[in-house]
Amino acid sequence: MIRITIPVQPRPYEAVIEHGLLRRVGEYLREILTGGERLFVVTVPPVRQKWGKKLMASLSAAGFPAKWVEMREGERAKKLATVEELAEKLPGLGADRDAVIVAFGGGVVGDVAGLLASLYMRGVDVVQIPTTVVAQVDASIGGKTGVNLRAGKNLLGTFHQPRAVLIDPAVLGTLPEREFRAGLYEALKCGVIGKPELFQQFEENKNKILKRDHAILESLIAESVKLKAEIVAADEHESGLRRVLNLGHTIGHALEAETGYQRLLHGEAVAWGMIAATNIALSMGKIDSVTAGRIADAVLGLGPLPRVHVRRANIVRRLQADKKTRDGVVHFVLPTAIGKVEVARNVPEKVVGQAVDELRRLST
Ligand SMILES: NC(=O)c1ccc[n+]([C@@H]2O[C@H](COP(=O)([O-])OP(=O)(O)OC[C@H]3O[C@@H](n4cnc5c(N)ncnc54)[C@H](O)[C@@H]3O)[C@@H](O)[C@H]2O)c1
Ligand SMILES: [Zn+2]
Repeated sequence: MIRITIPVQPRPYEAVIEHGLLRRVGEYLREILTGGERLFVVTVPPVRQKWGKKLMASLSAAGFPAKWVEMREGERAKKLATVEELAEKLPGLGADRDAVIVAFGGGVVGDVAGLLASLYMRGVDVVQIPTTVVAQVDASIGGKTGVNLRAGKNLLGTFHQPRAVLIDPAVLGTLPEREFRAGLYEALKCGVIGKPELFQQFEENKNKILKRDHAILESLIAESVKLKAEIVAADEHESGLRRVLNLGHTIGHALEAETGYQRLLHGEAVAWGMIAATNIALSMGKIDSVTAGRIADAVLGLGPLPRVHVRRANIVRRLQADKKTRDGVVHFVLPTAIGKVEVARNVPEKVVGQAVDELRRLST
């Protein structure tokens, strides 16, 4: 069992990582809760079908009354209407101020259930039990909640730190292959940002990782969670430092939007975005070509990635539009070494355009 503290104030919490942890979730919650709380498990049908019995058995063995609160799966369900639908069910199920919301699913469930918990009765506790790679290495840690608006993703949300994050890599066994690989790019991203040994795991143990080897998955997840814990601790509300976690996301978001959120999974868009950021760093003389090549190889080695045939002018236009919804400048997180990044403002448009052209070239 690996335990990592996320040292936020006033209430630090733990991320616990263990193969088979689902069976012991009840036991763990008895340690950190008083014992009398009612639990409301927000989930989606596939996760409930595959893993629901195990979770419920563990909760009831520990004496917790728990009820299911189901939502539809997929990014489209990540909207305020879903939060309202779920909230409307809670009073009838007996949820009061001592209710604990359990987010049992991927990043969509985590973000929606986290927002629900932060709003219901002005805020109740949430426990995250993430079931995708994206959610286990990234979304469940750090307390960001949110839903999408028509104008863009994650534009409506709160910060609401969970009481605990309980990670069982065994549940990744039922994840479709493409979802699994898409999540790995976020872990690889953590390696590039600040964990050189994690990056090396991808270079040396790629096949074991893709075969979902238990021990390697545990260590990949743990290293990613550690990186996120360090960064969140230093910058809980994303005033600056936390931005480094957006490596690959500037162009990644533009690619997702440009392809109508249909063609690429989020992690795949981030993968292309990391290659673009690496090429930008290379053009600007911030990274050497050998290191840049290692990053590109590691990303492409987890492939295949869906091809992107986007026009550079459209991507540049989207970055400009994005700028208005953010803070007036396009920030690029650029790798400068394995395990090191810097934030660059005002990267010349031409350099961005060339990096987009390179993605097209790699897509042929
Ligand atoms: N809050 C944050 O800090 C943060 C960080 C990163 C991403 N996110 C958000 O996370 C979302 C993406 O998360 P995601 O990639 O997990 O997508 P997701 O939640 O949509 O899950 C992907 C698919 O896998 C299915 N699924 C989940 N667990 C499964 C399992 N164990 N076995 C079989 N199928 C399973 C789901 O039903 C879904 O169809 C995005 O909305 C993104 O904005 C949030
Ligand atoms: Zn991401």
